[in-house]
Amino acid sequence: MQNYPKDNDSEQYNRFLNNSILQKAVHNKKIAVIGLGYVGLSLAAFLGNKANVIGVDANKKKINSLLSGVPPFYEPKLEYYLKRAIRNGLTFTDQINKEIVSSDFVFITVGTPIDNDGKIDLTNMRDVSANISEHMINLKNRPSIIIKSTVVPGTTMRVIKPILEKNKLRESVDFDLLTNPEFLREGSAMQDTISPHVIVVGGSNNESIRKLTNFYRIIYKKKQDIVETNNVTAEVIKYANNAFLATKISFINSIANICQKLPGTNVDKVAQIIGMDPRIGNQFLKAGPGYGGSCFPKDVQALISFANEIGYEPILFDAVKNTNSLQVNAILNLVKHHLRDLKNKKISVLGLSFKENTDDIRESISVKLVNLLLRHKCDVIVHDPKAIDNTYQVFREKIKYSKSASDVLAGSDCAIIMTPWEKYKDLKEKDFLKMRNPLVIDSRRILKLSNRKILYIGLGIGN
Ligand code: UGA
Repeated sequence: MQNYPKDNDSEQYNRFLNNSILQKAVHNKKIAVIGLGYVGLSLAAFLGNKANVIGVDANKKKINSLLSGVPPFYEPKLEYYLKRAIRNGLTFTDQINKEIVSSDFVFITVGTPIDNDGKIDLTNMRDVSANISEHMINLKNRPSIIIKSTVVPGTTMRVIKPILEKNKLRESVDFDLLTNPEFLREGSAMQDTISPHVIVVGGSNNESIRKLTNFYRIIYKKKQDIVETNNVTAEVIKYANNAFLATKISFINSIANICQKLPGTNVDKVAQIIGMDPRIGNQFLKAGPGYGGSCFPKDVQALISFANEIGYEPILFDAVKNTNSLQVNAILNLVKHHLRDLKNKKISVLGLSFKENTDDIRESISVKLVNLLLRHKCDVIVHDPKAIDNTYQVFREKIKYSKSASDVLAGSDCAIIMTPWEKYKDLKEKDFLKMRNPLVIDSRRILKLSNRKILYIGLGIGN
């Protein structure tokens, strides 16, 4: 797999966005993006800088906020591109109507969560598809309906297509139906949207596939790899991609837990060297508290349920999921080992978002850890540069919140680094010496502390 491009500076972005080829290619195209989460909003903000784009989301509060140029979540560079796109005509609405559906490209980017049984919940997808179908009756043009949301294999043709066709409409005649999975990461959503490492377009006929790939080819100036395939393969690719990355993380976390017990070893050294083998690759080998977020946990689970449903026992994916669920215990066990009795101990948790550069705490391992610490009757105080508001919605007054990464340490019995925010790397030894008991558990091994008064434990470093 090609490396993700390095983060570009604004100057490079501007040069790209002012590119006349991009302007010409998309200027006359009408584009609708339905579902304005990380994927939909990044896409709308990117394409909206030059094309005629309308974003749709059922959440009125979100729409009002977006109309004034304020993103509903923190994502680097999003606000900048959003405001620019709004000046270029990007607009938003909470209603799907005929005009929206008659766009050249209608991207569906609604959420596909999992239900209580661990199966994919297609409610949003079904509702939006039914709504689109109603408004497609008697259309003069033939819109391309593009499924960007992550859906289990077979969904586009077996679930979405019949809904879209229900008003006597025919796929490939009245509309085209494509599967175009997204690979962007939260925290670098704009960068990944502007420079995707691959574009996968799945469809049922060459004409419909070409319409979209030609559009992408001009936007991305032929630099990107554009892969044409059928809908179901595109759906499998998305799950395979996420499941493989999740597998790498559970794998390296297992190695970290072994290193933890072997004095003289460091999981980062092991990862660095095995990563030099091109068959392995050096990315996604950072051991830590386990993967979180709105994608890997949900997608691995949905793949497990799907595999079971079609009669395949997914032993490997079960192991990936279970390894991930148990990884938080590696951290808790270190706390217990060094503090013995946890009752009334003051524990500082640094980092609440599931990864750096986002305020998203969905499936964050930090939230799991705080819950475990509360169960052990600890006195928990937390810090995060962006995710305090979201965390407050979960724990309210059950824990304390600190505005400063240094103050959160004062009087503490143990500090746990959970999210590798850049600013935590700037913490000095004197900050940790403010602790009552300077025990530091670094689940991401981002600190370098050598003061003898500080007991530094890096997850995956044997001592
Ligand atoms: C992930 C994929 O990386 C994207 O390609 C995909 O488009 C997205 O899911 C999706 O399906 O929507 P994301 O969840 O935003 O993106 O974040 P990642 O950077 O993949 O991180 C996921 C979790 O894995 C985080 O908790 C992170 O801390 C953890 N992680 C990642 C590790 O513990 N070690 C690593 O080496 C890498």
